[in-house]
Amino acid sequence: MGKVRVAIIGVGNCASSFVQGLHYYRNAREADRVPGLMHVSLGGYHIRDVEISAAIDIDKNKVGKDVSEAIVTWPNNTMVFARVPKTGIVVQRGMTHDGLGKYLSKIIQKAPGSTVDIVKLLRDTRTDVVVNYLPVGSEEATKWYVEQVLEAGCAFVNCIPVFIAREAYWRRRFEKKGLPVIGDDIKSQVGATITHRVLTSLFNDRGVRIDRTYQLNFGGNTDFLNMLERERLESKKISKTSAVTSLIPYPMDEENVHVGPSDYVPWLKDRKWCHIRMEGTTFGDVPLNLELKLEVWDSPNSAGIVIDAVRCAKLGLDHKLKGALVAPSAYFEKSPPFQFPDDVAREMVESFIRDPRIELKLGDRPGGAAARVARAARATKAAPSANGAPKRPAVRKRPRAKRAAGRRAR
Ligand SMILES: NC(=O)c1ccc[n+]([C@@H]2O[C@H](COP(=O)([O-])OP(=O)(O)OC[C@H]3O[C@@H](n4cnc5c(N)ncnc54)[C@H](O)[C@@H]3O)[C@@H](O)[C@H]2O)c1
Repeated sequence: MGKVRVAIIGVGNCASSFVQGLHYYRNAREADRVPGLMHVSLGGYHIRDVEISAAIDIDKNKVGKDVSEAIVTWPNNTMVFARVPKTGIVVQRGMTHDGLGKYLSKIIQKAPGSTVDIVKLLRDTRTDVVVNYLPVGSEEATKWYVEQVLEAGCAFVNCIPVFIAREAYWRRRFEKKGLPVIGDDIKSQVGATITHRVLTSLFNDRGVRIDRTYQLNFGGNTDFLNMLERERLESKKISKTSAVTSLIPYPMDEENVHVGPSDYVPWLKDRKWCHIRMEGTTFGDVPLNLELKLEVWDSPNSAGIVIDAVRCAKLGLDHKLKGALVAPSAYFEKSPPFQFPDDVAREMVESFIRDPRIELKLGDRPGGAAARVARAARATKAAPSANGAPKRPAVRKRPRAKRAAGRRAR
């Protein structure tokens, strides 16, 4: 098989763990079980077949440096588990747009010079797949880069909660160009989202009614610093909340579900701590409460998932699949076009890896997508929910009068 040539937009902590991981596991044997990867060889592509073709940033400390140096340049502060030798790939100057918010612009200075021709860069470097690692809230910047990706003819893996694969408009744009997209907002190996989803499924399976739940997250990396700016968080909150509530088969009042990034604690560096509480009702209307604390290094936690995702995206290109890849998006991302229970999504990805052409049956085309996904789900006895058009909202808004009364009381 050939190579998977990957361009990275945003050389931050996640890119650091991704690049380190490619080096760390380059000699893994086919039979090895690598923590955080589905397979050492996925669809015929070994980890070492994934090559960095280009890297783009706007930080003056990173632009112009070899990727191996840029990934360990402040403010990156994740764990260094592999010393990456010189790659020969120099970080290029990107387009800033809304990439730097109120807090990041206090610590990151824009590199001088103008934006490189991104379309030319992607073409000249024979890039297959572009990975989006921009800061949360980079709506304009993401959409600008997506235009360049479409023009250059690359596949796209969207690791951030700006909705591309989930939006019909952008899916159609990828379809028209005959290109695959996997998105949106990468799901970590064992992170807050998957843990909260598994606990939600456990409560469902054991018949416990979920009355109230929260998920509080804090960390000391630039991702958490940036997320102090609440205005940039709208899509992150939607993404994280719907990843949990999409599994709850009855409506819950908005005020009883709180999921979101909560604070920035610099000394945690790239560690993230997550507190989950679930309050439920069991037999006899008796209460049951659960408290959990999870401590993780944030960026390595998602890097393996992205190594699998870029290989699936390349399989999509190889098989001329176009638009959102339903199964890989459902398994690898928090906000896919269609949500499935995680065990079902994993099975679907395994089938996709065995024969990517099955994705064609699930492909999102006007008029038939929902019906096809529902049929596939019935066959696997799972109930999907279309993120774009849920039949019934999982989170119920409080009546207007009650909300107003609540505001007055405070
Ligand atoms: N486990 C995880 O870490 C995880 C999980 C899900 C989603 N994500 C998302 O992945 C994204 C990346 O996370 P991170 O921890 O690497 O963040 P980071 O802050 O370490 O890196 C972001 C990088 O983007 C660069 N940048 C900013 N604006 C840019 C622009 N316009 N063009 C090019 N580069 C630009 C910054 O200089 C920085 O190097 C975030 O949106 C995060 O929420 C991460």
